Amino acid sequence: MRCIAIAAVTIDGKIALDAGHFSDWTSPEDKEFLHKMLDESDVVVVGNNTYKTAIEPLSKRNCIVFTASVRTSEHKSDILTYCNPASSDCIPLMEKYKKVAVLGGTQTYTYFLENDLLDELYLTIEPLVFGRGLNLFESEKNIEAHFRLESTKRLNGKGSLLLHYVRS
Ligand SMILES: NC(=O)c1ccc[n+]([C@@H]2O[C@H](COP(=O)([O-])OP(=O)(O)OC[C@H]3O[C@@H](n4cnc5c(N)ncnc54)[C@H](OP(=O)(O)O)[C@@H]3O)[C@@H](O)[C@H]2O)c1
Repeated sequence: MRCIAIAAVTIDGKIALDAGHFSDWTSPEDKEFLHKMLDESDVVVVGNNTYKTAIEPLSKRNCIVFTASVRTSEHKSDILTYCNPASSDCIPLMEKYKKVAVLGGTQTYTYFLENDLLDELYLTIEPLVFGRGLNLFESEKNIEAHFRLESTKRLNGKGSLLLHYVRS
């Protein structure tokens, strides 16, 4: 299993204004990159808040949705599984796959960080500021996770930047 987080952030490091905020502020170039990454992944892991903002585009993908609404895990369809990260079901479920795309949001990215499961991070910095909102990670633990910058790419004229980090 290789867990690859994909996220778009503002200049001030925010991924959304609030939990219900649909990611309609990212550049077309970032959306194109995101879709390519999801196409190349074997499964998408997403938190229930993000899932609810993007049910339609995610409905055709193989998804594991994090939620405390199930005790352990529940197969909702051939391609949709609900899993409670507090149970021991989620990691073995993800380990069935080679390439795991971690789609967020904050609570979900933080789960992967806190459990030392994050192998790679693709971060698109979009040139805008929210001034408030949800952070990429929000942990109460003392974490110092080191990454190595593998590549950078300017995605468009306005300067959306794609950074690829690998856990070192
Ligand atoms: N800019 C980006 O790249 C990007 C990417 C993804 C998402 N987002 C944005 O992020 C926002 C959502 O972020 P978020 O932090 O509120 O939510 P989230 O991680 O998408 O979902 C949180 C929900 O997932 C479940 N969950 C996640 N981690 C859990 C854990 N460790 N244990 C138990 N349940 C867990 C819970 O569902 P239940 O309530 O069902 O128990 C929790 O309420 C949205 O606005 C979305 O658009 C932005």
